[in-house]
Amino acid sequence: MARFTLNGKPVESSAAPDTPLLWVIREDLQLTGTKFGCGIGQCGACTVHLDGVAARSCQLPLSAVEGKKILTIEGLSPDGEHPLQAAWIEEQVPQCGYCQSGQIMAAAALLATTPKPTDADIDTAMSGNICRCGTYQRIRKAIHRAAGGAS
Ligand code: FES
Ligand code: FES
Repeated sequence: MARFTLNGKPVESSAAPDTPLLWVIREDLQLTGTKFGCGIGQCGACTVHLDGVAARSCQLPLSAVEGKKILTIEGLSPDGEHPLQAAWIEEQVPQCGYCQSGQIMAAAALLATTPKPTDADIDTAMSGNICRCGTYQRIRKAIHRAAGGAS
């Protein structure tokens, strides 16, 4: 049994301790905004926050989140109006959309520590989040917009 906080609410899971958190949140807890991409820590589609830091939920065993705070895209904003979500709409970032919840969660972790990131900051922070549709330029613009700078 593992207990942790998910989007501000206490949850518990009886899944095996080595079950990836991604499986628990998608299959058991039915929060499907976090995506399965590669399953081997290479794409970032499964990015969530672990105590405020971006983490790949496909690589996090359930045993590693005991007592921790997990935030998924569903918990980023109660009304879907986080500055990044608004900027994503303004800049029309997504194409297929599959990578985008992971992109937004990685960007949110960046802005939490670096409120006014440079292009280099963005490229470094986002380098582990792959977009096969190639939306990188719009992602960068949207992060600048959310940070209050010119898009
Ligand atoms: S699904 Fe986790 S990094 Fe690709
Ligand atoms: S929008 Fe299609 S993979 Fe990124």
